[in-house]
Amino acid sequence: MVQATPFFLVLFLALGAHSLAVKKCSLAGHWVNDLGSNMTIQTVNAKTGIFAGSYHTAVTATTQEIKVSPLQGAMQKSPNQKGQPTFGFTVNWSFSDSITVFTGQCFVDDDGNEVLKTMWLLRSHVTDIKNDWKATRVGINVFTRQQ
Ligand code: BTN
Repeated sequence: MVQATPFFLVLFLALGAHSLAVKKCSLAGHWVNDLGSNMTIQTVNAKTGIFAGSYHTAVTATTQEIKVSPLQGAMQKSPNQKGQPTFGFTVNWSFSDSITVFTGQCFVDDDGNEVLKTMWLLRSHVTDIKNDWKATRVGINVFTRQQ
C-alpha cells in the first residue's frame, strides 16, 4: 500500500498532463476550404452542440451573383468524441433555390493544425420529378482555420 501510493500519484499526474497536452479541435471561428470558400461558425452551444454561422461560397452552380448565406448545424456532444467531434450543418443559399448539407469531423492533424474533413450534398431545385435524377451533386471539402 505504501509503495502503491506514489505509483498512482505518478500515473494520475501523467494522465492529467496528457489530457492538458492533447489539443482539441474547436468548430467556432473562421475557416477557408480548398475551393476558397469562407465560413464563419459562431459559438457552439455548450449544452446542445447547436451552432449558427455564415458561408461565403467561392463558386456556384448557378448564374446568380454570390451572396453570403446562413448556416445552421449541430456538433455531436457524446463523451467519446475525444476532442475531434463529428458535426453536420446546412447552408440555405440566399441567392439560389438550392440547399447544401455538410457532414464531417473536426481533426487536429500531425502538425497540430485543426482541419475539417467534410462531405456535402448540394440539392438543386428542379421543375419536374422527371429531372430529379440530376438534382443532387456530391463532393468533399477540406477546411483549415483562417489565419
Ligand atoms: C448554388 O450554386 O446553388 C449555391 C452555392 C453552392 C456552393 C457549393 S456547396 C458545396 C461546394 N463547396 C463550396 O464551398 N461551394 C460549393
